Amino acid sequence: MKQKICILGLGYIGLPTAAMFATHGHEIIGVDVNEEVVHALNQGKIIIEEPYLDIMVQAAVTSENLTAATEPCQADVFIIAVPTPMEADKTANMKYVESATRSIVPYLEKGNIVILESTSPPGTVEELLVPILAESGLCIGEDVLVAHSPERVLPGKILMELVENNRIVGGINQRSCEAVRDLYRTFVKGEIFLTDAKTAEMCKLMENTYRDVNIALANELAKICEAMNISAWEVIELANKHPRVHLHQPGPGVGGHCLAIDPWFIIEKQPQLAQMIALGRQINDSMPRHVLERCKEILEPVEERKKVVVFGVTYKPDIDDMRESPIMEFIHLLEQEKDIDVVVVDPHVTHMPYLEKDMWKAVGNSHLIVLGVHHQVFAQIDFEHMKQEMKNPAILDTRDFWDRVTLEKLGFQYFLLGEKKEGSRL
Ligand SMILES: NC(=O)c1ccc[n+]([C@@H]2O[C@H](COP(=O)([O-])OP(=O)(O)OC[C@H]3O[C@@H](n4cnc5c(N)ncnc54)[C@H](O)[C@@H]3O)[C@@H](O)[C@H]2O)c1
Repeated sequence: MKQKICILGLGYIGLPTAAMFATHGHEIIGVDVNEEVVHALNQGKIIIEEPYLDIMVQAAVTSENLTAATEPCQADVFIIAVPTPMEADKTANMKYVESATRSIVPYLEKGNIVILESTSPPGTVEELLVPILAESGLCIGEDVLVAHSPERVLPGKILMELVENNRIVGGINQRSCEAVRDLYRTFVKGEIFLTDAKTAEMCKLMENTYRDVNIALANELAKICEAMNISAWEVIELANKHPRVHLHQPGPGVGGHCLAIDPWFIIEKQPQLAQMIALGRQINDSMPRHVLERCKEILEPVEERKKVVVFGVTYKPDIDDMRESPIMEFIHLLEQEKDIDVVVVDPHVTHMPYLEKDMWKAVGNSHLIVLGVHHQVFAQIDFEHMKQEMKNPAILDTRDFWDRVTLEKLGFQYFLLGEKKEGSRL
């Protein structure tokens, strides 16, 4: 049955969801407070980078199943996919969810479904959404069905994962669960599991916390191995030959809107109990400074003003998303060093301080290249040319991405996070 669905928040989650429902025959009104997003969408265009999303949005807009507006309207279903950023004190900023929920109250009618997709601290649906929706005078749970259905998609593969991933639906009652499950069945091919709202909220947070804590373990191992002259990468590779061990990879920190933030939403609720989760965050947050210390050590013998070129600043490879990127924090630390100049190379990023679009100009006369994010394009670099342009051909690879043997053969000094040769080799 064709439904009219109002989706609030047209970002990385809301827009692909809107396009997906629209191309599956539903009538979608996409709502965003950002006029630029609304204007672009009504012309069939998008302002975020996500493979194939532009094509799907264009098809949806052309079919007239997807239109955008800055205000909500009457609909059968309301889906809230607005940001849930973190405050400076590491608590969830729920003001976007709150204002989006308030904005639909005047349009609520008997028979409506309200779904929260935004990642939220456990208890949000019951304690924040339901009381606001009740201001409509309707009986929430009877007249209006409500559920949390968290997103698990991976940026870069959003359209595929929206369809293929298993999904959790946490309703305020059984009717809410079933109605929301039936709606997502429109396009979801994965399994859909039903639970209560608070459990669904905790599941989403714990999925990312699991990964964050495991990366923290790998980062701790990296530091230990550096101190003990062992290769963490070799340890991980060999330990993972055990059938029940799956150590994660170390790196310059953890970023993105999910892994670096979601654990805090659990800590916020149970600060006394969430001890390992908090320690994991602390270890991962210490990595940009650790990379800086490695740089300073490598550059110590250089007596002139030093030029460091950072390759890749997004929070993971092959995307344009810089949210919570640990490389940004690393750059921030680098710029505080009085005798270091910073230049950034990242083909996925259009504007940011220190960005140099001409790679050869960027590496010219530099003393150290730090690989921050292993974008695929960085696999094709002409290292021979790079060596000629650099003043001191040294590389610090934080991802075990470039090939040590090739680089050393070309005359580079190759340093790797998670392993350390005695002393500096510059
Ligand atoms: N991006 C991801 O990979 C991902 C994955 C899983 C879960 N999530 C969660 O999904 C939620 C949305 O994330 P995102 O990445 O799509 O955010 P985003 O910043 O890309 O997009 C959010 C959009 O909401 C709009 N907005 C803000 N307040 C609004 C309001 N009151 N009414 C209408 N629109 C409003 C903003 O202008 C913005 O365009 C967050 O809770 C996030 O944690 C994101």
